[in-house]
Amino acid sequence: MTDPTMLDLNATGPSATGLGAIDRTGGRVTVSDKAMINARADVNQLLPLKYRWAWEKYLSACNNHWMPTEVSMQADIALWKGNALSDDERRMVKRNLGFFAASESLVANNIVLAVYRNLTNPECRQYLLRQAFEEAVHTHTFQYIVESLGLDEGELFNMYREVPSITDKAAWALEHTKALEDPGFRTGTEAADRAFLRDLVAFYVVFEGMWFYTGFAQILSLGRRNRMVGIAEQYQYILRDESLHLNFGIDVINQIKAENPRLWSDAFQAEVRAMIGEAAELEAAYARDTMPTGLLGLTAELCGDYMRFIANRRCAQLGLGALFAPTENPFPWMSETIDLRKEKNFFETRVTEYQTGGALSWD
Ligand SMILES: [Fe+2]
Ligand SMILES: [Fe+2]
Repeated sequence: MTDPTMLDLNATGPSATGLGAIDRTGGRVTVSDKAMINARADVNQLLPLKYRWAWEKYLSACNNHWMPTEVSMQADIALWKGNALSDDERRMVKRNLGFFAASESLVANNIVLAVYRNLTNPECRQYLLRQAFEEAVHTHTFQYIVESLGLDEGELFNMYREVPSITDKAAWALEHTKALEDPGFRTGTEAADRAFLRDLVAFYVVFEGMWFYTGFAQILSLGRRNRMVGIAEQYQYILRDESLHLNFGIDVINQIKAENPRLWSDAFQAEVRAMIGEAAELEAAYARDTMPTGLLGLTAELCGDYMRFIANRRCAQLGLGALFAPTENPFPWMSETIDLRKEKNFFETRVTEYQTGGALSWD
């Protein structure tokens, strides 16, 4: 796997990246040649589409376009610089921002440097390109918040290294991407294909699909109480994007499973369930650390319940049995926010219209 002389002999062949020599004698791409991983088909040809769900998600994502600078921060600035927020609320907000600030970059780097290379399907890559841009918009959001509120940028962007409950989560996820860090990594063996699946579970299911949700609940809970309303609005946009990222990741994993059933062995299913269980534990520790006394109707215990509720949902989406005893969603208002699935005019406050082709001026 790590021997560079083996690369050309690998089952994926040099065309896996799309940057190899052109095959002048090959036939045209057919749908049956296309595959999620280890494809034989030319990855430079989007059409004919095989995975319409990936294309549909790309279109939905484009319809959700937004920029953080469209959201006014005036009310947030006044509140942050005044003395209406408690120390506990400030601590929760800062740690929340610190967790997200670096996490958006971790997710983006994983997409661009690991997932994109190994997912050998052009319609999925089309979505990944859009997702990568959205992660840049999310990172931009944290830059904008830091600048607007006058926060200590070094403190915020280093929390993923300096606050143990945040570091533990980032370190756990990166442990599952270590194999892909090797420049010689290629899919094409059972071990390598499973390593790739592990990466997808760690980032799409756990990072974006579980850990982000406690973070959303914290800030949206503030917003529901009319506090930090600008950040809360930005988080609603991020949540809408992340719901799509999660659903794309679940579809990718399930499609890879369907095409490569041998990968989804009993032992590997047990491993994925263990990963989701560990992730729920790490999140409970993070909730205790960010909200030691409870606030805004949130407690570490309720966040733990919420994570177990979410963990069971993620297991079901992957076709796995429930990990925890069935539990009610302690934050039903969160699922209302998510399940509305409004793709346009999500917020009545939004005023920006994006230029369409007909409106462009070339002067
Ligand atoms: Fe993101
Ligand atoms: Fe994301």
